[in-house]
Amino acid sequence: MNGMRQPIGVFDSGIGGLTVVKAVMEELPSESIIYFGDTARVPYGTKSKSTIVKFSLENVEFLLRFGVKCIVIACNTSSSWALPTLRKYFKVPIIGVIRPGALAAVQATRTKRIGVIGTKATIHSGAYEAAIHRFDPTIKVFSESCPLFVPLVEEGWLNGSICKEIATKYLESLKRQRIDTLILGCTHYPLLTSTIQHVLGPDVTLVDSAKQTAVEVRGVLMGAETLCDHRLRPRYRFFVTDEPAHFNQVGHRFLGQVLGSVERVNGHH
Ligand code: DGL
Repeated sequence: MNGMRQPIGVFDSGIGGLTVVKAVMEELPSESIIYFGDTARVPYGTKSKSTIVKFSLENVEFLLRFGVKCIVIACNTSSSWALPTLRKYFKVPIIGVIRPGALAAVQATRTKRIGVIGTKATIHSGAYEAAIHRFDPTIKVFSESCPLFVPLVEEGWLNGSICKEIATKYLESLKRQRIDTLILGCTHYPLLTSTIQHVLGPDVTLVDSAKQTAVEVRGVLMGAETLCDHRLRPRYRFFVTDEPAHFNQVGHRFLGQVLGSVERVNGHH
């Protein structure tokens, strides 16, 4: 009973995880959320496994101070490299975005040819490929890292000729492989949906992890009997490790609504 009113903890390397928060808010409108964006150390996508795991452990420790009832790793890069270690160290249920995204893609594909795009670290980890093959080992997976997409999205260049040109270059090999489904394996990429769809054409289904992750969160909370099924007014708190100004300015684009107050924490060590 007690757990019902506890918040859900969500962390990301920075701002992008708000796309996952948006999906959780839609799926579970009564749940309170504590969001932690490690804006002082973003990006994670260019870093090594050991650094990503270390940062992720610290992020979970921060969220646990708020008595969260579960933790969502909104960051694809953290989910790719750190999830097994986090689950080993902490008792709280931890949900990553990789398995839900893989499941959504496996359900969507007709030709069993799935593309995955993400940060360098996510693609290097092979996590999506492994998760897809756990569902169906006969599926062919083609991966491509798209490192310029993150700064492009933060700059707000979501359409237009520069964006299209970069997307065309990154996606040409996946197009050649005749994928019928593409996983947008990074928090930022859902904002590029229209450009990516334009480049790949209408026959490719774009899948992002956010919605399916929110569905999985519901399942985990139901299983633990901590789902907040009352019409409670949820409370949202946002914490970042660097100046909140940029997060505040850009954040609403990811969240689809104005952010409440954003608090700065001086690291979590
Ligand atoms: N949040 C990261 C992800 O989903 C993207 C930004 C970064 O590289 O830290 O992989």
